[in-house]
Amino acid sequence: MDQPVTIAVIGTGYVGLTTGACFAHLGHHVICADVDVRKIERLDAGEIPIVEEGLAEIVAGARSAGRLEFVVGASTASERADIVFLCVPTPQGDDGSADLTYIEMAAAEIGPSLRSGAVVVNKSTVPVGSTRVVERVIRRDDVTVVSNPEFLREGTAVHDFLHPDRVVIGSVDRAAAERVAALYDGVDTEMVITDPASAETIKYAANGFLAMKISFVNAIAAMCEAVGADVASVVHGIGTDRRIGSAFLNPGPGWGGSCFPKDSRALVKIAQEHGYNFTMMRGVIDVNDEQRSRMIHKVVRALGGHDRHVLHGATIGVLGLTFKAGTDDLRDSPALAIISELRRAGAVVKAYDPTTVPPVDDHRSSALVGIELCATAIEALTGVEVALVLTEWPEFRELDLDKAAEVMVGTVVVDTRNLLDPAAVTATGLSYDGVGRK
Ligand code: UDX
Ligand code: UDX
Repeated sequence: MDQPVTIAVIGTGYVGLTTGACFAHLGHHVICADVDVRKIERLDAGEIPIVEEGLAEIVAGARSAGRLEFVVGASTASERADIVFLCVPTPQGDDGSADLTYIEMAAAEIGPSLRSGAVVVNKSTVPVGSTRVVERVIRRDDVTVVSNPEFLREGTAVHDFLHPDRVVIGSVDRAAAERVAALYDGVDTEMVITDPASAETIKYAANGFLAMKISFVNAIAAMCEAVGADVASVVHGIGTDRRIGSAFLNPGPGWGGSCFPKDSRALVKIAQEHGYNFTMMRGVIDVNDEQRSRMIHKVVRALGGHDRHVLHGATIGVLGLTFKAGTDDLRDSPALAIISELRRAGAVVKAYDPTTVPPVDDHRSSALVGIELCATAIEALTGVEVALVLTEWPEFRELDLDKAAEVMVGTVVVDTRNLLDPAAVTATGLSYDGVGRK
């Protein structure tokens, strides 16, 4: 590395904390800022507020090397920094577009205190044209705004940061782009340097394409069930074609999380605002909504019924609440969406998730209200008519199936993640229904 740089990271959530800790790990001095005083206190006390593989270790290492600080307030961090990363949320507005309020607030706060020659980097996922918006809010001729979208998957974010497939930087100022690129010295990857609109579009296009792959395989899984094919064989058969690739072709209960749902809708909205009707992306979203309904229909069938009336008064044992394994994140979780539909139809839901063992933190509980949270998988299955796997936590593969069969009152396991071995399930006397499996 040429020269360690002082970096400020505004917003210390899943993206900001990982970004800050990884840059500190690479040798820079990093000041992470947040508006949430309690979060900063916890971080300062050495606590990691999220579940993220490897994060605690690199935070501890960077802190003991004196390269990572946590402060309250964006300008407290940015006034001391050469490069400032904006990692604040861009929630979905009522009309599907991304809401830039937090970005604009953070930009307005740091504007006056930025050092001359500073670079402000937008890492949050923002609509095309937002680099300009940030420039206008900052109103400084001596400061450059650059786009550097993140491609971090929760659960493997540290690995994704340090071993990315590429780093994308968008700027009209080549020198500023190269200053940002130089921060990644030590990361062996391709630097894609382009203009801001292209960088911002790359982020949406990548997430849109990945969501499309998953919707496609979920639709193929539905086909497999209809024609008597097996989705695992089909995925293997198509994934070996390098033009297709095997990644992101796992069928499931539909995609969720803090990015795909809001980014796919924002992509449709951005296209619409620019006069393009992105029908393909609309279809990708529709297939995802249908997938959730299909999973509910599997539960209905498992109860021996044809419509949702049969759910009234039924007890369902759910395994998994997070939007995928490896994270404690419940934002836009397909599991919670499915559970809320089941409950709306009158079902009683017991659930176990390794990150949501009671007593649950207050800040996560609103999404969980009305679900009977259990301390173990077997407890969640005790006395239930249907077992429903909604998140692919590896520990569910080790479930004591004999015990599960003994404690359940019903006999069907609906496995929306194709996680369990159907033969092992049926060997206990239970019956098995996966997604697109024979
Ligand atoms: C967020 C966005 O959701 C995503 O679109 C973007 O790509 C990156 O930032 P994430 O890190 O997952 O992703 O959000 P979250 O975990 O909610 O963290 C955001 C943090 O910003 C929170 O700690 C929040 O307290 C903080 N924040 C929010 C500020 O510091 N200032 C604000 O004005 C608003
Ligand atoms: C995603 C992108 O992958 C990442 O690059 C971006 O920056 C942020 O959004 P993340 O939301 O953390 O990351 O999760 P991801 O692993 O992409 O999974 C998203 C959803 O798709 C989850 O609900 C997951 O269960 C589902 N999924 C993923 C499938 O159903 N099948 C698959 O094959 C892969």
